[in-house]
Amino acid sequence: MRVVMIGTGYVGLVSGACFADFGHEVICIDKDAGKIAALEKGVMPIYEPGLDVLVETNVRAGRLAFATDPADAIKGADVVFLAVGTPTRRGDGHADLTYVYAAAEEVGRLIEGYTVIVTKSTVPVGTGDEVEEIIRRVAPEADFDVASNPEFLREGAAIRDFKIPDRVVVGAETERAFAALRELYRPLFLNETPIVAVNRRTAELTKYAANAFLATKIAFINEIADLCDVVGANVQQVAKGIGLDKRIGSKFLHAGPGYGGSCFPKDTLALSRTAHQVASPVTIVDSVIAANDRRKERMAELIVRAAGGSVAGKTVAVLGLTFKPNTDDMREAPSLVVVPALINAGAAVQAFDPEGMDEARKHIEGVTYAENVQGALKGADLAVILTEWDQFRALDLTAMAGELKERLLVDLRNIYTRAEAERAGLTYVSIGRPAMDRPVPLGAKVTDLAEERGARGR
Ligand code: UDX
Repeated sequence: MRVVMIGTGYVGLVSGACFADFGHEVICIDKDAGKIAALEKGVMPIYEPGLDVLVETNVRAGRLAFATDPADAIKGADVVFLAVGTPTRRGDGHADLTYVYAAAEEVGRLIEGYTVIVTKSTVPVGTGDEVEEIIRRVAPEADFDVASNPEFLREGAAIRDFKIPDRVVVGAETERAFAALRELYRPLFLNETPIVAVNRRTAELTKYAANAFLATKIAFINEIADLCDVVGANVQQVAKGIGLDKRIGSKFLHAGPGYGGSCFPKDTLALSRTAHQVASPVTIVDSVIAANDRRKERMAELIVRAAGGSVAGKTVAVLGLTFKPNTDDMREAPSLVVVPALINAGAAVQAFDPEGMDEARKHIEGVTYAENVQGALKGADLAVILTEWDQFRALDLTAMAGELKERLLVDLRNIYTRAEAERAGLTYVSIGRPAMDRPVPLGAKVTDLAEERGARGR
C-alpha cells in the first residue's frame, strides 16, 4: 500500500519506518526542512534504540522516503496518517488541535481517488468527526473515509511495541476503511495480534482510557509506597503480592518519583478536560493528576530530609535527568521539578545523564553537567538516582561511598537494596521500603505512627 505520514515526530517517524518494514511504500512528511534533510542523511531527530538502522534499511530498499512538500505523495496515497503533535493547550489544558486541523485541511485539498485519512495523533473523542467535516468542506467531491488508529508505543521500546503489540485498535465508520487498515496491518494479523475494530469515537477514547489507567496504576502504587514508608511495609513486596493476581497484573507497579513523559501528563489532563466539558468528570483521573504533580515536589523534600533537613551549601550529584531510561526526552521529567527545588534550597547540583543532557540544558539552569557518573560524584556530599538507566544499575557503590562526603545515596527508583548499599558504606534511602531503610521499632503500634510522622514533620 502507499502510505503517507504527515508529521515526522516521534510517532510519525517510528510508525512510518515500521510500516515501510512491513513492505508498504511510505513517505514521511514534515514542514521542518532541517529535520527532513537530516533524515535523508540518516541522522535521527530523536534517540530511539534501533530506529537509525530501521530507517536506513528501508530507505535503501526504496520503501521509505522523506519530503517537506506533501502534494505528490498524497495524490497517490491509499492511506494518509495524521501524526502531528497535540500538545497541551496553554491556559486550559485541553489538547491543542491546531496542527491536526491544519493538516486535515491540507490533505483534503490534495487527495485523489479513494483515500483513508487516519488520525494517529492522540486526539480527543469526536476529533475524527471534525476532521471529516473539514475535509468535506475543502473537498466536497472527494472520496474518503476518516479513521482512528491510536498508537501505544513506549519511548525506548517503540519499534518492538509497534511490531509485537498487545493489540491494534482501529476505529472506523465504513467497511471500506476497516479493510484498508486490516491490509496495512496484515503482517501483524498473520501473527495473531488481536485487532480491536470499533467505531471511531471508541478508538479515540480507548487511547485516553489506556494511558489514564496506566497513570492511575503508577499513582496508586506511589501512594501505597508512601504508606509503606510510614507503617514499615515494603512496596516492592506489596506490588509483587498484588501483581500476581492476574486481574491486577504486575506491570506499571514500580513506585518512583512520579510519572513524566509526553503522554501520561498530557493525556490525563486532556481526558479530564473533555470529561468536565461534557459534565461527566472522571474524578479518579483528576486525583491522579494532582497526586502526581505533588509527588514531584515531595521528592525534593524527601532528599532534603534524607540530608538531615538541609541541602544548603551542599553539592548533590544527580544521576539521570530524562523522564525514563533509553530516551533523551525531558518532557515533564521529575528532574524538572526536583533539580530546581534543590537549587532553590541552596544546593549545588552536578548532574549526569547518558542521553538527556542536551535537552536538560535547555530547561534547567544553574546545573553543572558532568561527562560521566564519576564526574557527577566528584566532591559531592550526597547522590540521588532520578532515572534508572541500565548503566546506573551496577555502580561501584564502595567507590561512591568513598567519594560522597555524607556517604548518602537517595535512590528514587529502588534499583539497589539497603543491604548492598550499606555493605559499601552508604546510608541508603529509597521509596516505600522502610523495612529495609528504617525499620519501624518492634512493638510500635501502627496507629501511633501518625503522631511520630507529625513529629518528624512529614
Ligand atoms: C506511555 C505509554 O506506555 C504508551 O503506551 C503511550 O502510547 C505513551 O505513553 P512512555 O511515555 O514512552 O509511554 O513511557 P512509559 O514507559 O509508559 O513510562 C511513563 C512514565 O511512567 C515514566 O516517567 C516512568 O518512569 C513512569 N513509570 C512507569 C513509573 O513510575 N512506574 C512504572 O511502574 C512504570
